[in-house]
Amino acid sequence: MKKIYFAGGCFWGTGHFFSLIHGVSGVKTGYANGFTPDPSYEEVYTDSTGYAETVEVCYRPDSVSLDFLLEMFFAIIDPLSVNRQGEDVGTRYRTGVYYTDPEDLPAIREAFSRVSSSLGKPLAVECAPLVNFYPAEERHQDYLRKNPGGYCHIPLKAFRYVTLLQDLKNLIEGEEDGIARMAEASALIHERVGSLWTGFYIVKGEFLVLGPFQGSQACLRIGFGKGVCGTAWKEDRTVVVPDVDAFPGHIACSSLSRSEIVVPCRDRDRKVVAVLDLDSDSLSYFDSDDALWLEKAASIVFG
Ligand code: SME
Repeated sequence: MKKIYFAGGCFWGTGHFFSLIHGVSGVKTGYANGFTPDPSYEEVYTDSTGYAETVEVCYRPDSVSLDFLLEMFFAIIDPLSVNRQGEDVGTRYRTGVYYTDPEDLPAIREAFSRVSSSLGKPLAVECAPLVNFYPAEERHQDYLRKNPGGYCHIPLKAFRYVTLLQDLKNLIEGEEDGIARMAEASALIHERVGSLWTGFYIVKGEFLVLGPFQGSQACLRIGFGKGVCGTAWKEDRTVVVPDVDAFPGHIACSSLSRSEIVVPCRDRDRKVVAVLDLDSDSLSYFDSDDALWLEKAASIVFG
């Protein structure tokens, strides 16, 4: 059993998020790295005690890696924001990774440098040994389970996607065949996201060719730059379409589709080799949170 401490803004949402991860055996909300003894929530709230709202994560390293926990942590914070996450402002809402085992430091440094180089900026996230940690009062433990629908600064979709990503990793780990990986991924994503159509188009020459999918029959080939899929490929970016009728050149495979998201899938050289396409029968079903998490899913499938 190992422990790692994450300060990720308001600890209600951060605690709930980590409690959903398989291999996490316990989560405690509390106050870390301050300078007054045994602080109360009200004292920490004054922002004069030096504490950060922090979550103690106990995990089984044979079931979940520190790398995965760190990746998930960075997925739910704004790592450039100073003393602010969502609507919560103050030094108690600063972000940080606090460790008790110096052997964890290389993995932590690696995660920090990966995020920093992808953003091209230094991070506002602390990386430090844990100095002290006081568990928060009982009413702050399991807050979102005790108060369903309570305040949460983390977009709720993160709670669904974190288990999806972990399950996806576990399901396809060790399988080298790309078609099998895409087939498994489309089934899992389809079921969990509740989309109308979920599937892959694979780059072959000048075309995207239909790959493994879930849903009704779809067009077999899409040209470079054509439709939403061809646009995501050409422009090498995720395209979120809240209303397919408003997207010039949208290719309607199903008249039921109202909104869509297409994510480029890249190989290790960052070249687009396929796209992941999801359709919904509701307008505005997908947003930038889906983009963030589906990009992670795509990189698991093609990683
Ligand atoms: N709507 C897509 C075509 C693929 S189907 O949605 C499955 C597009 O415009 O590229």
